[in-house]
Amino acid sequence: MAATIVSVINQKGGTGKTTTTINLGSALQKLGKRVLLIDLDPQANLSYSLGITEPACTLADVFSGKDKLADCIQERNGLFVAPGTNDLVDVEISLVNHEERERFLQHMFEEVQDFDYILIDCPPSLSLLTVNALAASNEVLIPLQMEVLTLQGLGQILNTVQQIKKNLNEKLKVKGIVVVMYDKRRKLSSEIEDYLKENVDEYIFQQRIRLNVKLAEAPSFGQSVLDYDAASYGAKDYLGLAKEFITIP
Ligand SMILES: Nc1ncnc2c1ncn2[C@@H]1O[C@H](COP(=O)(O)OP(=O)(O)OP(=O)(O)O)[C@@H](O)[C@H]1O
Ligand SMILES: [Mg+2]
Repeated sequence: MAATIVSVINQKGGTGKTTTTINLGSALQKLGKRVLLIDLDPQANLSYSLGITEPACTLADVFSGKDKLADCIQERNGLFVAPGTNDLVDVEISLVNHEERERFLQHMFEEVQDFDYILIDCPPSLSLLTVNALAASNEVLIPLQMEVLTLQGLGQILNTVQQIKKNLNEKLKVKGIVVVMYDKRRKLSSEIEDYLKENVDEYIFQQRIRLNVKLAEAPSFGQSVLDYDAASYGAKDYLGLAKEFITIP
């Protein structure tokens, strides 16, 4: 069966994309799924967070045609990873004049079939790399902090998804919005509650990801939080998210 391909997107920086890609991926793997993580961000935070520092082959090599995606994939604790690199900045520039510039990633995925899920950690922009991810995906997952300023960007993300759906990829759909860095002690403003209820209620996952220092510590140990501290809130929340995730058609 073909993999379900999911782009983890939010054009705002530091909203939990990389943390969600790694830990949802790890949780899905613990549930018995075969998972490939794609580090599409030139910051290469995902690769680093899983202990991959100087990979012999990166996604930039695959974009340039030097290597095949399958030959670049590494295994870390049962998870499969296609490493990123700062060279993805150059890739993006060289794509601009290419006729099929939005479809490179889609063509790469045609060669790797034996995964249940492919999760793509996108850069914090709606750049050509992100457009490649969206053109290649079945679904998008949006990590969202409950703050007025991050909500402002949500409409823009949903609008981009609609544009991609119309012009490049009619099968694309929003899988859901996951509330991250959730602080129970902080009362949400009624402005935020109302906005979410009126606009995106049906998309919000029941499982929220709480603020948890273990989630911030785990990358230093090159591990997902589920491997680093399975008893932490971070591990429990992402496992809960994975269980909910696989029940949504
Ligand atoms: N639930 C959480 N509790 C505590 N810290 C968190 C949580 N989620 C993420 N963090 C921390 O917040 C910071 C930003 O998270 P992350 O790197 O996942 O965001 P991002 O959206 O990938 O950022 P960028 O846009 O730069 O790629 C990181 O230091 C991460 O460890
Ligand atoms: Mg990131």
